[in-house]
Amino acid sequence: MPEHQRKTYKILTLNQIAHHGLCRFPTEIFQVGKDITEPDAILVRSHNLLNQNIPISVKAIGRAGAGTNNIPVPDMNNRGIPVFNTPGANANAVKELALACLFLAARNLVPALQFAKNLQGDDVMLDNQAEDGKKLFSGIELPGRTLGIIGLGEIGRLVANSALRLGMKVIGYDPQITIDSAWNLSAEVKKANSMEDLLRHSEFVSVHVPLLNSTRQLIDDKFIKLMKQNVTLLNFSRREVVNEEAILTGIATNKLKYYVSDFPSQKLQHQQSVITLPHLGASTQEAEENCAVMVVDQLIDYLQNGNITHT
Ligand code: MLT
Repeated sequence: MPEHQRKTYKILTLNQIAHHGLCRFPTEIFQVGKDITEPDAILVRSHNLLNQNIPISVKAIGRAGAGTNNIPVPDMNNRGIPVFNTPGANANAVKELALACLFLAARNLVPALQFAKNLQGDDVMLDNQAEDGKKLFSGIELPGRTLGIIGLGEIGRLVANSALRLGMKVIGYDPQITIDSAWNLSAEVKKANSMEDLLRHSEFVSVHVPLLNSTRQLIDDKFIKLMKQNVTLLNFSRREVVNEEAILTGIATNKLKYYVSDFPSQKLQHQQSVITLPHLGASTQEAEENCAVMVVDQLIDYLQNGNITHT
């Protein structure tokens, strides 16, 4: 091993996920842990580093995930500290959960599961009560229904292509890129000229934009007003992309049938029409391993060789 690679790097890891990536390198080149002082690098998943003191010793930050909104990126850039993330590495996992939630909403599974758990009596009584459930929770099927996708990055494109395979009509819009530049997107995806155009047609809307100044509170009262009645809105983007007051208005005016969000919310969690998850989109064995490997490779390449890739 060349002499310059013999240095031991101190990596402050605030999540076990790093293990998948680090275990492929010789252990003697790292000191890894939660209590490392004067770290060369910090490796996080969703741990919030905003307004935290980033030690002077830090030369790089790794984020095992696509979004970097938990990292003070402009400050780090000013200090010449690169931030490495993992776009695409967990996209399939997020897509699968978004699709699961389409089915969940279409078949009213959350209230139906609760209803079934609360039934009481012998088997005959349970069967009779189940008859009520059939009426209460009768759902809809997805083929022929229109899914509007806002944000056509890696995840949005995967959701679009899978929804088409389910027989859905798909209409896409991306506030950042022109749809023509969204590679890997089936020609069958209809191009919306505006958000209004997308909302006019969609019975399901799935949001997959990154959190930027331009996307913060993107889903507001105006957006909700433009929707059809009884729409299911999925948010696998970030909590801050949605104005939660507008969601309450959407529920009260029957614009929204369900709001499914991958982010817990104090304001919304007791609403019957709101289904919240504890940010599980990227939580699969495969995605966690992909993210860890991708971020650690970038971090080590930078610490050892000064190379900057994928930022
Ligand atoms: C992402 O930005 O890709 C996700 O927040 C990753 C995660 O949930 O860890």
